[in-house]
Amino acid sequence: MKKVLVLGGGGFIGSNIVRHLVARGDCNVVAADLSFPRGWDDLPNGSERFTFVAGDFTQREIFDRLGGGFDEVYMMAAIVGVNRTLEEPEEVIRVNTLLTMNTLDWLKSNPVKRLLFASSSENYAGTFDSFGGQIPTSETIPLCISDVRHPRFTYAITKIHGESAFLVSAKPLNYECIIVRYQNIIGPNMGFRHAIPHIVQRLSENPQSPFKVYGSDQTRAFCYISDAVAGTVAAMECYDKQGEIYHVGNDVEITMDELTQEIGRLMGYQGDYVEAMTYPGSVGRRCPDISKCRAQLGYIPQVHWKQGLEKTVAWYRDYFSSGAKPTSGGFAPPENFLPAGQK
Ligand SMILES: NC(=O)c1ccc[n+]([C@@H]2O[C@H](COP(=O)([O-])OP(=O)(O)OC[C@H]3O[C@@H](n4cnc5c(N)ncnc54)[C@H](O)[C@@H]3O)[C@@H](O)[C@H]2O)c1
Repeated sequence: MKKVLVLGGGGFIGSNIVRHLVARGDCNVVAADLSFPRGWDDLPNGSERFTFVAGDFTQREIFDRLGGGFDEVYMMAAIVGVNRTLEEPEEVIRVNTLLTMNTLDWLKSNPVKRLLFASSSENYAGTFDSFGGQIPTSETIPLCISDVRHPRFTYAITKIHGESAFLVSAKPLNYECIIVRYQNIIGPNMGFRHAIPHIVQRLSENPQSPFKVYGSDQTRAFCYISDAVAGTVAAMECYDKQGEIYHVGNDVEITMDELTQEIGRLMGYQGDYVEAMTYPGSVGRRCPDISKCRAQLGYIPQVHWKQGLEKTVAWYRDYFSSGAKPTSGGFAPPENFLPAGQK
């Protein structure tokens, strides 16, 4: 049986990859993250099929707890979220680059066959700022940081660093490297630093009319988590793809207004809506071209955004109606941040 490591395996996408692989039953899975996720008592932790290793992997010595003999590594661990870049950009740089460099150092004495790095369409934000870009956007668009002084770009900087570091190390360390650039993956328990949980929370707790729609004419394309897992695992398991970069996402582009009003409909909100400012510098349109993933990996998203949204909203509506609060920071755009280029 092959042995698979999911670093960041307790996170939203990572945990769904872990569950998918464990349920499939054809590999032994090690998941690693800061702490053992709540609600995982159904998984056979400590068995040959599944083991969880808890620790802060910015510390190089923690990697030695993982053991060796891995065939495949999904490198999902990172500090994620635009608001983290605004709150603590230095921590985003420190943690994300250390996770990359420590993984590479560990690989020197623990060779693997394949490594998949989770990257982001946020890498294109600077390109769109400075030069514009085509929608849908292909993986071949040049990457650019339009304002290195602005903290918002720290996440993209670490993702571009990670892509380059893992790609150029593939030959000397003798593994196949695959890069996946995600865009707006949604689903139950996706965290709290995203628009959807934030909208559901606002509608659950205090739905004031008119309801503010942040960045209402901005567009995004939302991909349900089961499709993201299928695309990611296909990218890992479609062999001889050394150095390839894939968009895993959905190419149905909708406005934030459509998203918000659909959530409002699902939650029975009957008031009005009003446009409001979102994060300054936030990309106006975003939609991936997924034709490469379709052609090379046979990836076809199965879940319509409204179906995926319904399941996601149901999870958060239950969560907030139980009186629970977000376990991490929210999504509301801060009032006092300047757009990129004005810092
Ligand atoms: N969700 C999306 O739409 C999206 C979009 C673009 C890119 N990505 C990338 O995909 C990956 C997974 O994203 P996600 O949405 O599941 O995010 P997530 O925050 O749920 O998962 C990331 C995981 O990394 C772990 N981690 C952070 N620092 C760590 C450390 N020092 N040691 C060990 N673990 C650590 C976190 O605890 C978390 O569980 C990330 O690399 C992210 O940048 C996600």
